[in-house]
Amino acid sequence: MGALDGKVAAVTGAARGIGRGIARMFAQEGAKVVVNDLGGTPDGSDHSTVADEVVDEIRSAGGEAVANYESVATVAGGQAIFQTAMDQFGALDILVNNAGILRDRTLFNMEEAEWDEVIAVHLKGHYCCSRPFACYIRDTNRPECRIINFSSVSGLYGNFGQSNYGAAKSGIAGFSRVLALELAKYGATVNTISPGASTRLTIHLREARGLQTDLDDPAQSPAQIAPVVTWLASPAGQEITGQIIDVMQGWVGIMQQPAVIRSFSSDHFWRLQDLDRVMPALMEAKQQHDERVKQQGAPTKLD
Ligand SMILES: NC(=O)c1ccc[n+]([C@@H]2O[C@H](COP(=O)([O-])OP(=O)(O)OC[C@H]3O[C@@H](n4cnc5c(N)ncnc54)[C@H](O)[C@@H]3O)[C@@H](O)[C@H]2O)c1
Repeated sequence: MGALDGKVAAVTGAARGIGRGIARMFAQEGAKVVVNDLGGTPDGSDHSTVADEVVDEIRSAGGEAVANYESVATVAGGQAIFQTAMDQFGALDILVNNAGILRDRTLFNMEEAEWDEVIAVHLKGHYCCSRPFACYIRDTNRPECRIINFSSVSGLYGNFGQSNYGAAKSGIAGFSRVLALELAKYGATVNTISPGASTRLTIHLREARGLQTDLDDPAQSPAQIAPVVTWLASPAGQEITGQIIDVMQGWVGIMQQPAVIRSFSSDHFWRLQDLDRVMPALMEAKQQHDERVKQQGAPTKLD
């Protein structure tokens, strides 16, 4: 008995890294899987049928999967991924928007194409793939559907040299919060993962900091993300929506969402001399909050 028996899933960018681990675990847990991947280079150029390798792995292990090579960055691509699930398996229950690329530059050097392509794959890609599925959930009232999106600390905290990627990943967190509200009445959940793992997108960055790569290390392996995504996708995850789950370094955590920490009011428009008092008090409240959250967020070892 698998946690995803009877479910149909589409996982984008599933030929490599984190997506591959998710597609494989979904199939192990009984889901029929559309393995989408454009099969390009880390910056999104070129294309290939590398998704076939994951489909072969799943089939050899006795699972059911089909490949799709479309780009998530176009409306036609997103529609084709959805249609592949319909044509091959007759339904769709779970969408994992995982596909991603990097084109890192500081803003001083960032060309329009580098901005556009990263926004297209990540942010527009979430729109292109989610919209056909969301309409299907609404039109068929299909119960217990799941959308699991991929953000990043780059967008949630900020990371030097990634204004395109950080903007897209922050936008994905906002997109997810809105979609969670729009799909709530159909019983569908929408959550966001902030992952960390050694993959072709990150290994060179880790190695530049002198860190060794060990893909068998559970705190580094891209496979560490799959159990959390599988749990969220399973019936056990029905009550969790609109959340950002942090999965990296062998830990799993929940992230804070934007919220007002401390505020003041006044009967008149703010005077500059009022703000001379208010702004330092706000900054102090923020600093105390950050320190408290940092302590509370440190992982507790599970027995
Ligand atoms: N690895 C990390 O530490 C990390 C950190 C934060 C966020 N992420 C996010 O996690 C997701 C997975 O990244 P990964 O590290 O496994 O990278 P990866 O490069 O190993 O895998 C990404 C896959 O997406 C595919 N892809 C790229 N553009 C596509 C497109 N237009 N259409 C379909 N497929 C496309 C690639 O071919 C590749 O197989 C990405 O969204 C990434 O931004 C990863």
